[in-house]
Amino acid sequence: MTSREQADREAALTDRVVQSFAGTESTRLKQVMESLVRHLHAFARDVRLSEAEWRQAIDYLTACGHITDDRRQEFVLLSDVLGFSMQTITVNNAAYGDATEATVVGPFFVAHSPEIAIGGDMSHGATGMPCWVEGTVRDCAGAPLPGARIEVWECDADGLYDVQYADDRTACRAHLFAAADGSYSFKGVKPVPYPIPDDGPVGALLGATGRSPMRAAHLHFMVSAPGQRTLVTHIFVAGDDYLERDSVFGVRDSLIREFADQPAGTPTPDGQVVAETWTRARFEIVLAPAGS
Ligand code: BEZ
Ligand code: FE
Repeated sequence: MTSREQADREAALTDRVVQSFAGTESTRLKQVMESLVRHLHAFARDVRLSEAEWRQAIDYLTACGHITDDRRQEFVLLSDVLGFSMQTITVNNAAYGDATEATVVGPFFVAHSPEIAIGGDMSHGATGMPCWVEGTVRDCAGAPLPGARIEVWECDADGLYDVQYADDRTACRAHLFAAADGSYSFKGVKPVPYPIPDDGPVGALLGATGRSPMRAAHLHFMVSAPGQRTLVTHIFVAGDDYLERDSVFGVRDSLIREFADQPAGTPTPDGQVVAETWTRARFEIVLAPAGS
């Protein structure tokens, strides 16, 4: 068989499979399945996938399934390290005016975090350099969004989120509501870089490809207000070693902030004297209108 005949055979198979979805009632499902088949077939043809490699891929996905449970989602992690999560976010959060850019939610968000007052402490005693974060929440026209709900979560100085602790303590997570002028502030700890869970198939993939599991130091935000698009984002720490090689491709330049270290004994903006060095950062949050 000539290589032309072989290529025609492969293309004909793709066409037959695509054609099999012709009767799909949902036009969206039809579009998604047809495109998925075209891309999967193109991939197998492009790399000339061997049958052993096909089997290895099935075994790999099976291993992802086996390690996944209510607390661990290896498929989302795989999507994250392939940049697929970030690409989906990019597709769905088109730039709109000055709206703050979105990034990955990650596996450590927990609903029903404790509420804190403005200026309150979201660390709940976790280890880390004390950190004061402040800013405003506004819409794209610059109007403050009083009452906007601000969820924040981060890891402690050891790179652990509270859900990774052996006990069920809550630490480094809270929600608060913006004031009448849109302002907010809270105390936390200075973000540090940490590895994503790398003791499973995703870690094996990173190891085999010479990639680091480290995430650039960050603090997570989820901000919502009526009539506005909910924003899931982070702030990153200027000068952090991992900004250029974040394992899940979550860094956007617009989200990098200066954290200004303050000498021990400097009072915080709410008048508390802190005996150790602490740091502060500002984050102005701009929400895009819902449906934009
Ligand atoms: C996180 O930032 O919490 C995270 C994001 C993606 C994968 C793992 C962790
Ligand atoms: Fe994180």
